[in-house]
Amino acid sequence: MRSVITGTGIGVPPNVVTNEALSRLMDTSDEWIRVRSGIQERRYADPGQGSTDLGVMAARNAIADAGLTPTDIDAVLFATMTPDHMLPGNGPLLQTALGLRDVPTFDIRQQCSGFLYGLELADLFLQSGRYRRVLLVGAEVHTGFMPWHLGWDTLIGQSTREITEAERAENTLTRDRTVLFGDGAGAVVIEAREGDTGLGVIRLHTDGTGAGVLTMHGASFKRRPFVSVDQIQSGETLPFMSGKEVFRSAVTLMPQVVREVCEASGIAVEELDLLLVHQANMRIIEGVQKVLGLPPEKVPHNIERWGNTTAATLPILFHECRTLGLIRPGMNLAFTALGSGLHWGAAIYRT
Ligand SMILES: CC(C)(COP(=O)(O)OP(=O)(O)OC[C@H]1O[C@@H](n2cnc3c(N)ncnc32)[C@H](O)[C@@H]1OP(=O)(O)O)[C@@H](O)C(=O)NCCC(=O)NCCS
Repeated sequence: MRSVITGTGIGVPPNVVTNEALSRLMDTSDEWIRVRSGIQERRYADPGQGSTDLGVMAARNAIADAGLTPTDIDAVLFATMTPDHMLPGNGPLLQTALGLRDVPTFDIRQQCSGFLYGLELADLFLQSGRYRRVLLVGAEVHTGFMPWHLGWDTLIGQSTREITEAERAENTLTRDRTVLFGDGAGAVVIEAREGDTGLGVIRLHTDGTGAGVLTMHGASFKRRPFVSVDQIQSGETLPFMSGKEVFRSAVTLMPQVVREVCEASGIAVEELDLLLVHQANMRIIEGVQKVLGLPPEKVPHNIERWGNTTAATLPILFHECRTLGLIRPGMNLAFTALGSGLHWGAAIYRT
């Protein structure tokens, strides 16, 4: 019995924001963003549109793609670092919006590795026989972190108003992070099926000594009050990132864990037909590809159109590869991701 992905779907927010549009708001340029990250554009949710809304869109599409109806789902795993509310999590909100039965919903907080951690849990749920059909969603609305109240109308082309120097200066303070992230959602339905296709070996790791390299200092229950105007004004409610350290960890640990799952599965790395890497930075994706000695065509990317969508990147990439016909029967696929925690891992998937 294997855990098989029987349906995929994505949820796409409406606003396409190019690098050029961002450069109207802050001191950045299309060239800087392209060269350093590979990103050309990203999507931003509308004000008032949350990660649950995008997750619901993606889930509806995935359930229909699997040939199921929402009442067939036995359990939900929802991975996000940008939930609609601190409490409750997105799971119950999605359950109601989709019209699921009163099935259990789990909220996953492993950031960029959320989808991989979700795969592990889904696999354990299905292999134990506890549930038969699991819905796994990864969805993010990062724009809530961003200071785009200073120029949102200009950004999405609804105004030709010039940004003031003060607004531009404030937006520039966080440019090292804001240009990298986009909004989006991906979902998969996973079912237990006889046969030898589906999820294989999964290996997950956590190293809490790296917690400080990618974290958010504000909106913390160690603080009194847990959030304040001061925290917002000083940028503490945005993720803090030590970009170079995250970069170094990513290009070292993702290849290591891909080798680990290949070895445990008895396949050589070069026997992988596709490696789906978390889409945080094109230079990281290329770095992982080169360290593993894989040709570029085996390591597809979509970061140029989406930016980093955290928990949503792997399910969106998997869906797009399926839609493009890149995933065919008889293939060895691997997923890998690394993110805040540090959490990282990899999974083998046979089609
Ligand atoms: C963030 C990242 C793109 C930065 O690239 P980098 O080559 O390390 O760039 P640096 O941080 O050294 O910045 C270089 C310069 O560009 C400037 N800069 C930063 N952001 C900029 C922007 N958006 N536009 C223009 N200039 C910018 C910096 O201020 C710095 O200027 P200085 O040299 O005058 O001080 C890169 O480190 C990275 O992708 N790291 C991993 C991030 C990641 O994966 N995060 C998510 C993990 S899930």
